[in-house]
Amino acid sequence: MGYKGCSMTEVPPYRPLSGKTILYGVTGGIAAYKAAEYARNLTKLGAAVVPVLSRNARRFISPLTFSALTGQRSHTDLFDLSGAETIPHIELARSSDLFIILPATASIIGKAANGLADDLISTLLLSYSGPVLFFPSMNPYMYGHAATQENLKALRALGYGIVGPDTGEAACGEVGQGRLVPWDTAKEGIIAALTPSSLSGITVVVTAGPTRESVDPVRFISNRSSGLMGYAMAKVARRRGAEVKLVSGPVSLERPPGVEFHGVETAAEMAEIVKGLAGGADVVVMAAAVADYTPRQSLDRKMKKSASNLTLELMPAEDILSFLTSHRRLGQIIVGFCAETHDLKANALKKKREKGVDLLVANDVSMPGVGFDVPTNEVLIIDPEEEIEQVPMLHKEEVAEHIWDRIQGLVS
Ligand SMILES: Cc1cc2nc3c(=O)[nH]c(=O)nc-3n(C[C@H](O)[C@H](O)[C@H](O)COP(=O)(O)O)c2cc1C
Repeated sequence: MGYKGCSMTEVPPYRPLSGKTILYGVTGGIAAYKAAEYARNLTKLGAAVVPVLSRNARRFISPLTFSALTGQRSHTDLFDLSGAETIPHIELARSSDLFIILPATASIIGKAANGLADDLISTLLLSYSGPVLFFPSMNPYMYGHAATQENLKALRALGYGIVGPDTGEAACGEVGQGRLVPWDTAKEGIIAALTPSSLSGITVVVTAGPTRESVDPVRFISNRSSGLMGYAMAKVARRRGAEVKLVSGPVSLERPPGVEFHGVETAAEMAEIVKGLAGGADVVVMAAAVADYTPRQSLDRKMKKSASNLTLELMPAEDILSFLTSHRRLGQIIVGFCAETHDLKANALKKKREKGVDLLVANDVSMPGVGFDVPTNEVLIIDPEEEIEQVPMLHKEEVAEHIWDRIQGLVS
């Protein structure tokens, strides 16, 4: 289906895992059925996914399911020397960029913590020298057991990554911590593990979404921002290892995992939070569509309908970007966004000079597939020397990667 008259086929699919091979260990937990869908999702992101199932995983789900979904042979047996590889646990270990165990049972966590190697997955863990991520999934009591907690501590000490588990209702009906993390969290953990930590040690504040300016208890003035571009900026920074603080207006998006979240409603609330956080930030990215005007008065009671015209008096909202550039600490990078409907380059250059930002990202929101409430964007990035880079229409996360490449060039 298209959007704003733009066909999806015009924009290449977003494949951040292109060229990566993921060794995908599945152990015998009830969440093994979810592992099939996650494996499929990873192939859609461009990864080659090589499934390895434990004997007990095969009681829950068939290797055939994984082979059909990933287009790769599923491996199950340490002692099966048939097929292309000579010794599976050596061959598979050498040809992968990342090894994930999803779901990871209490049993595999215990074996890995103690260096046991009695089946293909546990033996692979010892013969593999690249990054490993465990995705624990089990009953809350099994997860809370001192032995499991000690084993997880040991895994961390061995340098393994652990994603989750989530809190909620387990398959058995008991409630607590132990559920496999949702797909978005798994995806971010996996992409981050395969992304160089080029923003490690950097603190970033990102604003996103619209603001709502209250007219009365049931009405507000707002704009069409969906928050997608700001959330993409926050996710990409997190994947590159930054500490990210996201200040978001009201949007219907999932909170990006691993990010400190601050929800706000009005421009005044956003100003207050951003001012409080900016002092500790190396980079501030103002991707939110903050109201320029706010009603002079917000009524306590609902305004009654009448037959006559209505005039609302608006006053300028606080200009957060100007505040930030006039109070910036030494070396701090400030990035502004502007949405225009005409004369993009001229208006963007004017805004860059007026606001004094280091980088300005401009988009023409009148174009199909650009700007508000669509998954794609096409932008101009204006750098401190007023050199202009034109980023073609891409998925917003890919646009965010371009913008972060430029920001990284300015961070000292
Ligand atoms: C119906 C059922 C569901 C299970 N679910 C889980 C689970 O979610 N997490 C877990 O750690 N163990 C679970 N177990 C126990 C494991 O299957 C058992 O510990 C097994 O030895 C794990 O083997 P593996 O890690 O080699 O695959 C479950 C067992 C049964 C019978």
